[in-house]
Amino acid sequence: MFQAILIEKDGPTSRARIADIDDGALPEGDVTVRVSHSTLNYKDGLAITGKAPIARTFPMIPGIDLAGSVVDSGDARFKPGDQVLINGFGLGETHWGGLAERARVKGDWLVRLPEGLNAAHAMALGTAGYTAMLCVIALERHAVTPDKGPIIVTGAGGGVGGVAILILRHLGYRVIASTGRPEEAGYLHELGADEIINRAQLSGPGKPLAKARWAGAVDSVGSHTLANVCAATMERGVVTACGLAQGMDFPGSVAPFILRGVTLVGINSVFEPMHEREEAWARLAHTIDLAKLDLMSKSIALGEAIPAASALIEGKIRGRLVVAMGTGR
Ligand SMILES: NC(=O)c1ccc[n+]([C@@H]2O[C@H](COP(=O)([O-])OP(=O)(O)OC[C@H]3O[C@@H](n4cnc5c(N)ncnc54)[C@H](OP(=O)(O)O)[C@@H]3O)[C@@H](O)[C@H]2O)c1
Repeated sequence: MFQAILIEKDGPTSRARIADIDDGALPEGDVTVRVSHSTLNYKDGLAITGKAPIARTFPMIPGIDLAGSVVDSGDARFKPGDQVLINGFGLGETHWGGLAERARVKGDWLVRLPEGLNAAHAMALGTAGYTAMLCVIALERHAVTPDKGPIIVTGAGGGVGGVAILILRHLGYRVIASTGRPEEAGYLHELGADEIINRAQLSGPGKPLAKARWAGAVDSVGSHTLANVCAATMERGVVTACGLAQGMDFPGSVAPFILRGVTLVGINSVFEPMHEREEAWARLAHTIDLAKLDLMSKSIALGEAIPAASALIEGKIRGRLVVAMGTGR
């Protein structure tokens, strides 16, 4: 038996609870993993609260990320004791996920824990951190180097935003952090932000083109914020869009694209090819200041993840939540 969060659906509403589950109920897969750590991402918050249809089949164990050790493997690439992690691939959406003490998965989904990161640090990064790295790699591939100008990070108080600040700062970029929590200015400066702006400057309807302020962006917010970020991007600048914390809409204009040559790059971490994942994780292991990662993450028990999911969706969680298995209900 193992403990997990289980989402069940009864009519139109879903409900999450802690359950004891028999190993025999695990889904098909060629590798069984003893999960030591998982995490709560925004998507997990939506799944657990039922605020968006993230879980596609029921009952579902949520959790788009996991880290732990291989227990048994029918995949020749992995053997018992190997330290591994998974991000995405439908985990917690179409396949039982990481908010559980056990998981059975496809070997094709596994990434070896990169040297320099333990399972807790890997989950402090999680999909949020891996996505932040994918955004920064996209900026680099589009030649947005630190000398081109500052980078704006929206949703700075959240997971993607916080890790993006850590990475950008380490690489020598000047970072402008946009937040709705000005009281967190000290924390954001400590992560590496050079300038803090109030997200209210960006969250309402704006002009098609605004004064150029940044060479690039990591946007996890979407909606008017993304439109305003594009409008204030410098000539030939690059905006990476990965999230929808404000909304899924994009009420913008083509002006930044056709008058300033701005590029909008979409980031989807879920089905990123394996070589891109491995590159992102290797870069994270070399880039992240673990003391600063500790500053932006907090460890909770599996049983605490259900109430924490609501707080996350309400924007009340700063940084990242790591879920440590076996530390209480
Ligand atoms: N494309 C992908 O593959 C991918 C991967 C990971 C995450 N995401 C998406 O990226 C987004 C952020 O994820 P996360 O894990 O960083 O979530 P998070 O930790 O909850 O952070 C989201 C942040 O967005 C800001 N925010 C919340 N509501 C807002 C609103 N109404 N208007 C403007 N800003 C708002 C808040 O920052 P402040 O309080 O500082 O303003 C909040 O901390 C989510 O939409 C998530 O689904 C996508």
